[in-house]
Parts: sequence; C-alpha cells; structure tokens
Amino acid sequence: MDMQPIPARSGNHNMENYKETYENFKWDDVKGNFTWNQTGKVNIAYEAVDRHAENPDKKNQPALIYSAPDREETLTFEDLKLKSNQFANVLKKHHIEKGDRVFLFMPRSPEFYAAFLGILKVGAIAGPLFEAFMEQAVRDRLEDSEATMLITTPDLLDRVPTDELPDLKQIVLVGGDAPGNYISYDEEMEQASDEFNIEWVDLEDGMLLHYTSGSTGKPKGVYHVHNAMIQHYQTGKWVLDLKEDDVYWCTADPGWVTGTSYGIFAPWLNGVTNVVRGGRFSPDDWYGTIAEKNISVWYSAPTAFRKLLSAGEEEAKKHDLSSLRHILSVGEPLNPEVVTWGLSAFDLRIHDTWWMTETGGMLICNYPAMDMRPGSMGKPFPGIEAAIVDNEGNELPPNQMGNLAIKEGWPSMMRAVWQNPGKYESYFLNGWYVSGDSAYKDEDGYFWFQGRLDDVINTSGERVGPFEVESKLIEHEAVAEAGVIGKPDPERGEIIKAFVTLRDGYEQSDELLEDIRQFVKKGLSAHAAPREIEIKDTIPKTRSGKIMRRLLKSWELGLPTGDTSTLEE
Ligand code: WTA
Repeated sequence: MDMQPIPARSGNHNMENYKETYENFKWDDVKGNFTWNQTGKVNIAYEAVDRHAENPDKKNQPALIYSAPDREETLTFEDLKLKSNQFANVLKKHHIEKGDRVFLFMPRSPEFYAAFLGILKVGAIAGPLFEAFMEQAVRDRLEDSEATMLITTPDLLDRVPTDELPDLKQIVLVGGDAPGNYISYDEEMEQASDEFNIEWVDLEDGMLLHYTSGSTGKPKGVYHVHNAMIQHYQTGKWVLDLKEDDVYWCTADPGWVTGTSYGIFAPWLNGVTNVVRGGRFSPDDWYGTIAEKNISVWYSAPTAFRKLLSAGEEEAKKHDLSSLRHILSVGEPLNPEVVTWGLSAFDLRIHDTWWMTETGGMLICNYPAMDMRPGSMGKPFPGIEAAIVDNEGNELPPNQMGNLAIKEGWPSMMRAVWQNPGKYESYFLNGWYVSGDSAYKDEDGYFWFQGRLDDVINTSGERVGPFEVESKLIEHEAVAEAGVIGKPDPERGEIIKAFVTLRDGYEQSDELLEDIRQFVKKGLSAHAAPREIEIKDTIPKTRSGKIMRRLLKSWELGLPTGDTSTLEE
C-alpha cells in the first residue's frame, strides 16, 4: 500500500522549534535536568520518584494509577517514595546489597512497582520476569543471573525450582501466607520504616537485567546501568511528547524492556501520571481504560492495534476516546493499514518507534513534529547516528538494503551481556552496533524495516529464540529432532511453526501434536509454544549438524531454496 506522507499537526508537541532544537542537541545538555549534575552520584529511582515527592507542587500528584478488574489503587509520588523506601528497608534487613541480583516474578501490581523501585534504591540489580514464564524459562534466567532473592506470589511459586537454584537464598511472597522460610511481603512492609537513605551509585553502575532471545543458545541477560535515564527522560519528552499534566498508558508488561524503559522510567522521570492496567486484553477493556482514565498519551504495539482494528470501528465509537492526544507503537513493523485505521478511528497518527532490549531506549522514531511516511520507522533521534551497513561494517548508499546499525555510544546502550563478554563483543563491527534487523534508508533519511537477518522470531511483538523452543521440543519423549521458524501471520506478525521428527514407535496423531504443544507451553511459556507442528521424516541440517531453519522457511513459504551446498547428505 502506497500512502502519502502524513504531515505533523501543530500545537501538539513540546517543540514548535524542533528543527533548531534537534540540530543543536547534545546528550550532555540533558544532564542539567537531574540532581546529580552537582554531586556526580546518582540513583534512577530518586530521579524518577523521590525528586517529585520532595516537590510540594508534585508530591500529591498520582504517579501510579493501578487498575484491574478486581482492584483499583492510586499512589501519589509521595506514596510511591514511602512504599519503595519501606521495601528498600526490607531488602537491607535481609542483607541485599549493591550489585546483588533481585528478581521479580509476578503480575503487575502496586507491590511490583514499590518492590522494583526499592531494589534500585539499595543499588541492587532488578530482574523482572514475565509472569507467563513456566519452570524452565524461570530456571534459566535465575541460574544465569545467580539471583539471590526472588519476589513472587504464592500462585507462581510452583514454577520456581528452588532445589535446582543454589544461589537463590531468599524468596519474598506477595499476598497470602508465607510459610516456613519464606519472607512475607505484607508483614515485613508493615514493620518497615518509610525512611531510607538511598544508596548513591555511579552512572555506570548496574540497575537492570532483561533476558532476551537470540537465534542461538539460551536467553541472554542484557545489562543496563543508571545512565540510561538520560535517554529515557529525553525520548519521553520528545517522542512520547510527555507534559506534566498528561495521563500516560504504556500497555507493555515490565517483564519486557518496553514495560520498564517506557512503562516506568520515561513517564516518572518526566513527572507524569502513569496508568497500569492489569487483567487480559479485550477491545472493550482497552477502549474502556482510555475513556475512564482519560488517557492522553498511549504507547502500544501493532498486534494490539490489529486486534482493535478487527474488532471494528463501532467498538471504538462506543467509548469516548477524546482524551487521546498522541499514540505510539513499538515492537513490530507498523503496517500502513493500521496507520490509516488510526487516522479514522482516533483522528490521530500512530507514531512508530524502533529500538531493542539491547538499546535500552528509542533510537529511530516518528516525532510528533515530523512529517510521517506510513510504513517507515522514522528517523534517528537527535544524537543518534544510524546507518545501513554491509557485512564488513561499511555504510551503504540510500535505498540499499543491509544491516541496520547505530554508531556506538548512546546513553541507554546495554553495558554487557551477563557472564558473556564474547556475546557482547559480537554485536559490534567497525564502530557500529549491528542490530540484526535489515532495513534501508531513503534519500530523505527515513528508515524502512525489512526483516530480521537472523532466525529470531517476533510473535505478537514478543521475541522468541528458536533454539529455546527446539531444545524444549526434543525433551518430549516422542520427539527426535526439531526445527523452529517464524511463519508470517496477518494478526500476530509471525507465529511459531515447529518441524519435528518422531522417535521410533510413535505415530502422528492430533492428540500427540497437542501433547507436544502443551509440553512446550507448560515448560517454557504460552507465547513460545508452536501454533503449528508438522511431522517430517528428516530435519535439514548442515554437515556440522546445525539446523537449516532458512531452508525450512523456504519450504514453508514455497520460496526458492537458494544455496544448499552445506546441506548434510
Ligand atoms: C523488532 C522491543 C519493526 C525488531 C523494544 C527488533 C521492530 C526487535 C520495531 C527488538 C519497529 C522493534 N518496526 N520491527 N518499530 N521495533 N522491532 O528486544 O526486529 O523485544 O530487533 O525490543 O523487535 O525486540 P525487543
């Protein structure tokens, strides 16, 4: 679909003079907005919450509006400061120190946010895990990070294989009773003081580990530091276009990077009221949330927009959505069809943004003040140098497809892959961070996403590594070998398709396929379970034994199979 550019709308953003502002922009200029400008010592939790709680004009402003079908709760900046202080004291009491890894495995709730901030306040490293993870996914992450404490709920506890995790010394249970050696969140919070001396750290000290998938190996721990606040703050201001009286809603779970960078830090660093909606997605629920909470800025994902689109415009018209001022998208390609739908359903543009877990913050975006080309991810944020490079790291001219790469050295860049320096090094080429996405740049500097260059699957905006799914599949008693690919899907972007061979004595049947599917679902997570499984006689492999997923994909899509010279006999 070819669409005309959609011009910027005036009066809608912070930067009427954005061109000059952008051209003279330096990351260093942002530092003046923070208190550490004077001391050099810092804590992102202080900048996000306590700073506003100390401001008489802001302390009673709602910071968190938590809303779920069975619970409504509002915490002001002051409330959030005190609750996170209390939790920091609980952590201190149990000897958690700077640099320790403390993981959170629980649904979104006010307790989650208080605990998350408390972890940062003692200088420890927070590791939020998506609540849908099953046993193996939980084990892999706790094992690799050598987390010493986990905060979870009684419901999720049976997915935590404590006897296989020697480093995990303490478990805090939120809600319900805490038997035996468990620490009760409710009891300890009640006793804890709400005064706390924040652990001041260096900008380069760690604060966050997000596990994410690549095409090989287990998920890797992407390590972020306090310095990332510079980017969270400034992209929040210029791309999310946050103003102090906004009511902002980011729909992502904090188990994924969007749910921390833009579901916690960007809004609070900018002193903005942040809505968190629990429960399950439904068009009625989401439109209802916008209407009821008077959401003005909304950050979501193409999969959700596509579901809303298929629910029909009448569904949207049932609700008063007039509070909306600015809409953004991330995680997958934003189809021009969805942009067109957005214009008619909300009378607003949907602004695409591109970035990754590793980049910690937005890099290529459509700003409110910029003319938008539907289908394009936009242009690099000021201070970001992006290019399309070849496999040697040389820049390619406009309109040529290649590796989307970013010049090293932006504030929110990951600082390490946990326990894996080789993996970290492998991202860099000739001074460029190479993203693994293929794209091209047009003559006017707009970037256009083309696909992944590796085998990473993007299903409903969630990143899944084929290796993880394959490893789980072959643990099933009937499965001999497995190869997993992403298959294009109109609503989910991609779905996971598995090709498997069966062990002797097993016959194909619907029950068996369903059993295999459930096995992955119960072992890893629902979003990693293959929606389609096809039985094969053999799985194509290279002579060195690597599964040729590229070939599986070509078969699936009926495409030419290309170079198969490395195929095993
Ligand atoms: C994909 C999510 C097209 C891309 C913040 C990237 C996108 C991966 C876009 C990172 C976009 C993200 N258009 N594709 N606007 N944004 N992606 O680490 O393939 O979960 O490499 O971070 O999602 O996914 P991750």
